[in-house]
Formats: sequence, structure tokens, C-alpha cells
Amino acid sequence: MSVASLPKSPHPPQTPVPFLDLKAQFQTVREDVLAALAEVAESTAFVLGPKVQAFEEAFADYIGARHCVAVNSGTSALHLALLGAGVGPGDEVITVPMTFIATSWAISYIGATPRYVDVDPQTLTMDVAQVRGAITSKTKAILPVHLYGQPADVEPLLEIANAHGLSLVEDVAQAHGAKYHGRSAGSIGQSGCFSFYPGKNLGAYGEGGAITTSDDAIAERLRALRDHAQSQRYHHNEIGFNYRMDAFQGAVLEIKLKHLEAWTEARRRLAERYRELLADLPLQLPREALGRRHVWHLFVVRHPQRDRLRAALAEDGVQTGLHYPIPLHLQQAYAHLGHRRGDFPVTEAISDECLSLPLFPEMTDAQQDLVVASLRRALS
Ligand SMILES: Cc1ncc(COP(=O)(O)O)c(C=O)c1O
Repeated sequence: MSVASLPKSPHPPQTPVPFLDLKAQFQTVREDVLAALAEVAESTAFVLGPKVQAFEEAFADYIGARHCVAVNSGTSALHLALLGAGVGPGDEVITVPMTFIATSWAISYIGATPRYVDVDPQTLTMDVAQVRGAITSKTKAILPVHLYGQPADVEPLLEIANAHGLSLVEDVAQAHGAKYHGRSAGSIGQSGCFSFYPGKNLGAYGEGGAITTSDDAIAERLRALRDHAQSQRYHHNEIGFNYRMDAFQGAVLEIKLKHLEAWTEARRRLAERYRELLADLPLQLPREALGRRHVWHLFVVRHPQRDRLRAALAEDGVQTGLHYPIPLHLQQAYAHLGHRRGDFPVTEAISDECLSLPLFPEMTDAQQDLVVASLRRALS
């Protein structure tokens, strides 16, 4: 398509392009979901129960882990997984500042400290080369994030963890079904932490999360911890939490899981199409790293004038997102760590330049063409 053949800006299209379209997705599962929700209501088994258990079994199987412990959010999943890894007050956990803040919250809830390392400029996930230098006598765990759906370089991270007696806990909140050399993200470290927040690749109809692990003892402890640490009714062996998943979410997730592979393939096709259609523009495009299956939770391009581009797209009715505009080491909540701008230059450059384009399984080629045309105008 030549620039000359495009309408002059500003010409907002008739159909704006939303960032994601949960209503369109609901229509594809409507009957099954409504029937399952009615079943839960009739059963009055509202918390945990058979629907949650059925989802746990199906999800563990999908990820290739022995266990799945369903909880009420991804943040709770991270909190419990770190407790399961033996992280305690005063310990350190090596993680990245380029993520959603919940990754660090879980460390802080325990009274431990996030020890940041920068991300790799190609994959935007934990830079393995920096990890050894960040290990101290207080380090208990390594917590990489499979950012935007791209798996982190987990094998070398696991080697480092094993060599130093540390646990590898994966933040898989954005990467359901992502693969690293054929193995699912969330099945490689000691545990994997998932979020089922509605906009995620596998989204509940409310809050939800899960931990996957193949360690029987950890799974048993986390199952107790999410339910007030009860070994049996009213017997509490340690301080527990109310992190239980409710049955409506289990019912929805079990149905939606059956569609996840098809939705992921739709995301992968759209991502490839974006890469082809945007190839000649002065934009930094994301790419799938060798040996990995990217599940494209987000399609994030980079440009030095990100804010100008974002405004131009908005004028054309194209919604975009920023993931994430302020890195964790520069957040007020973490000012006590004493970091300053310049400490993690790759992360800071991404924060300044990132622009997330609409990408969701139900997106039409026509909608995608509008995004591309709008970007082309803005960059001409
Ligand atoms: C990377 C990452 N970690 C953790 C979370 C927290 O998940 P939740 O919102 O379900 O608590 C999210 C999602 O918001 C996330 O994107």
C-alpha cells in the first residue's frame, strides 16, 4: 500500500480498533460458559470444589507439570511460590525491573528484597550474563519474567540456580503456552506463576491465578497455604492466607483452556503479519527468539517519539498501551532501594520507547490494516 493511496490524516476510521476485545471472545464461548456458570450456581459449591479441581488437572496437564494450585490472582501465585521456595524476611530475590510491579510485590510481601538485573536488549527478558554478579549470601531465588509472551532464557538460569542452591521461580503471567526448546514456560523452574486476569492470554471472568510445580511437597504446602494453612479443618500449622480460587473462575477457565491453542495460533499469525506489514517502517519490531515459542500476549514496538505516535494512533481510533512506562527501580514504592536513572539502561530505554499495538485472537485483518495504515501516516 503506498502512502499516497491512504486518506489524509486526521481521518478517524468508522470502526476504531480496541486494544483487546473481550466481548468478541465471549461470543465464541457464550453458551458453554453460561451453562457452566449456571451449574456452579445450582451446585452452590462456590469456592474451590470440583470445577476448580477439574481446571487444575487440565492446566497441569497442558503445562506439563505434576500439579497446579489455583489461587485468586497472579500476585498471590507469586507470593505463595516464593514462600514455597523458602524465601524469608531479609533474603534477596534476583529479578528484573522491566515487568508489572506485582513481580516485585511478592518479594516485598515476605520482607525480602528485590535485587534487580537488567534485561537483554533482544528478548527483553532477564540478562543471564548479569545474574552471577548479583548473587550474594542472602540470595534465595531467581525470578525471571516471560515478558510479553516471550520465554526468558530459562535453561542457563536454571543451571546458575542449581549451581548456587537457589530456586528458580518463573513469572508466567504473560506467557500461557509459551515454550523454551519444546518445554512449556512454567514447567522448567521449581514453580511457575500464572495470572488469569481477564486480559491475559487465558483470562478468567474476574481475578485468578495459579502455581504449577512438579514438586509434590511444595504443591501440598501451597494447597494448604492458600486455604488458611489448614492441614485439616481448623488445624493451622503455619500462618496462612485466603487465596482460594472461586468456582465461577474455575468453570470459565476450564472451558477457555480448550480454546487456548487456537487463540495462541491466531495471535502468532497476527504477530507475523504485523512484522511483515511494518518491516519497512522506522520502528524497532519484536521478534521470537531462536528455539522459543512466543505467545504474543503483547506486540510491543519501539520508537524514540513513542508519545507522538501514540497520539496519532488515538486520533485514528486505534487504542494502544504502554508496558511499562516507569521501570520498577524508579517507582516511588521502591525508592528505599536507592536506585537512580542510569542503573538499568536497557530497561529504561524500553520504558521510554515502548508502544503496545492492539493484538488479540479475534482481531480482523481489516482492523490490523487500520493500525498499520495509521502508523504509516504518522511516520511519513
Ligand atoms: C508479569 C506479571 N506478573 C504478575 C502479574 C500479576 O497478576 P494479577 O494481576 O493476576 O495479580 C501480572 C499481571 O497483571 C503480570 O503481567
